[in-house]
Amino acid sequence: MEKISNNRTVKFFNGKQIPLEMHKVRIVQSLNLVPVEQRLEAVKAAGYNSFLLSTKDIFLDMLTDSGTNAMSDKQLSTMFVADDAYAGSVSFSRFEKSVQEVLGKKYILPVHQGRAAENIISKAYISEGSVIPMNYHFTTTRAHIELNGGSILELYTPEAMKIDSSHPFKGNIDTERLEKTIQDVKPENIPFIRMEASTNLIGGQPFSLSNLKEVRRIADKYNLIIVLDASLIGENAYFILKREAACGKETIGSILLKMCELCDIVYFSGRKVSSAKGGAICTNSPDIYTRMKHLVPLYEGFLTYGGISVREIEAMAQGLTETLEEDVVGQSPMFIEYMINELVKLGIPVVTPGGALGSHIDATQFLPHLPQSEYIAASLVSAFYIASGVRGMERGTMSSTRDEDGNEIYADLELMRLALPRRVFTLSQVEYTIDRLNWLYKNRELIGGLRFVEEPPVLRFFTGRLEAVSDWPERLAEAYRKDFGDTL
Ligand code: F0G
Repeated sequence: MEKISNNRTVKFFNGKQIPLEMHKVRIVQSLNLVPVEQRLEAVKAAGYNSFLLSTKDIFLDMLTDSGTNAMSDKQLSTMFVADDAYAGSVSFSRFEKSVQEVLGKKYILPVHQGRAAENIISKAYISEGSVIPMNYHFTTTRAHIELNGGSILELYTPEAMKIDSSHPFKGNIDTERLEKTIQDVKPENIPFIRMEASTNLIGGQPFSLSNLKEVRRIADKYNLIIVLDASLIGENAYFILKREAACGKETIGSILLKMCELCDIVYFSGRKVSSAKGGAICTNSPDIYTRMKHLVPLYEGFLTYGGISVREIEAMAQGLTETLEEDVVGQSPMFIEYMINELVKLGIPVVTPGGALGSHIDATQFLPHLPQSEYIAASLVSAFYIASGVRGMERGTMSSTRDEDGNEIYADLELMRLALPRRVFTLSQVEYTIDRLNWLYKNRELIGGLRFVEEPPVLRFFTGRLEAVSDWPERLAEAYRKDFGDTL
C-alpha cells in the first residue's frame, strides 16, 4: 500500500488535541497486571533495580525503546527472505543499499549493537590521554572511551540542564566552548568530536542542523573529524523538521542526509533507529573504513554479518527505510508530548519540552526530601513500579560511576525515564501511567531512599543490587491498598 503521511493534517472537530495513530494493531502480546503485594515482592527480589525485574511481573514495560519498537508488517516479511550465508550475503547488500539511501554513506561495517560500534571506534581512535568533546555522554560510550584511556568533555549549553524549558534544541553543543576547548586541549589530543542525536541522558533532546553545521566549520578549522551517534537520528530529524524554521519545508529524508553529510563517521544502534536488532558504523572515507575494518571480524563477525542474524539485517534494512516516514519517527515524540502536557497540568515535574524516547520525570523535584546519596531517581523508579506495575529506567546517579577515590560522581540530572517505544502503547495505557504517577506524586512523602548492597565496578546500573533504607516500600504498598482496595 502506498504510504501517505497524514499526521500533520488531522484535526479533531471537537477541538481535542490527541495524537492519532497512523497504524493498526495486527499482532498482539497479552499483558499481566499483578497485585500490589506481588509487585512489592518482585521489586525486593530484583534488588530495587528495574533491569532485574521479570516481564511476568511487569504491566507496561517502559524501560527502553532499545529492541522494543513495534516492527512493521514489511519488516517481518523481509525476515523470511533473508539470505543465510556466512560471507557475501545479499541481505547485507540490501542493508548497504538502505544505509546509502537513508544516511548517504557508502562504506558500512556491521556490528551486533550500538555499544559494539563504540568499542570498535574507541579501539581504533582512542589512546591514553585522548579527549573527546561531545554534547553529552551516553553510558556505554563513556565506558568504552574511558576503558581505552580517554576522557570525555561535555560541552552542553546551560539550557540543557534546565528541567523546565521551552528551548527547542537542548541537545546543542556549546560551539564557543568547543572552539576554546580545542585550543586548550590541542587538536592532536582530540581524535574526534562526538555529537549524539536526540541526546539520551538529558531527556532525548535534539540538536539543530545549524548547530551541527557550526560544529563542522570548527572541526574543519582544526582538521578534526566528527563522529555522530545516530541511534536516535530519526527523531532528531523529526524535531529539526518541526522546530527549526529554516528546515520547515524539508523532508525527514533530506534532513537525515544533511545531518550525515556533515559527519565523517556515523554509527548507530539498529535496536533503536531501525526497530530491529543490530548496528553499524558508516563512512564515506576509505581511510576511515580501512582503519576499523579489521576489528569487525575480530570482535563481531565477518564483514557481511557483523554478529547479527541475517533476518535482523533484513529487518534493519527495511526499518531504516521506514525511518524516512514522518508517521514512523513522529509517533513516539507525539505520544511523549501528549504525556508531558498532561503531567505539566497535574504539576508533576517533568523535562520540557518533550524529546525523543520517553517522558523524563525529574526525581529531584519529585522527592525533595531525599539526599542525592540515596539514589533519588532509582527510588522513584522502584516506587512507581510498586504503584503501577510500570517499569521505568533510572537515569541518574545510579547510572553514573565513582571517581578513583571511590566517591560518587553525582549525576547532573536525576531522572526517571518512561520510554514510549515506537507504536507499542495505546493512549489508554498512557492515561493509566499518568493516573498512577499522579497518585504517587500525591503520596510522594512516603518514598524513601536506597543503598547498594552489591555494586559492580563498571556500568553498575545494569546488574547492581540495592536495598531500601527503611520500610518505606511496605508503607507505600499499604497506602496503595487503602486507596485502590481490591482493584489492581
Ligand atoms: N548510543 C545511544 C544514544 C543509545 O541510546 C544507546 C543505547 C547506545 C548508544 C548503545 O546501543 O544498546 O545497541 O548497544 N541505549 C539504550 C537505552 C540501551 O535504553 O537508552 P546498544
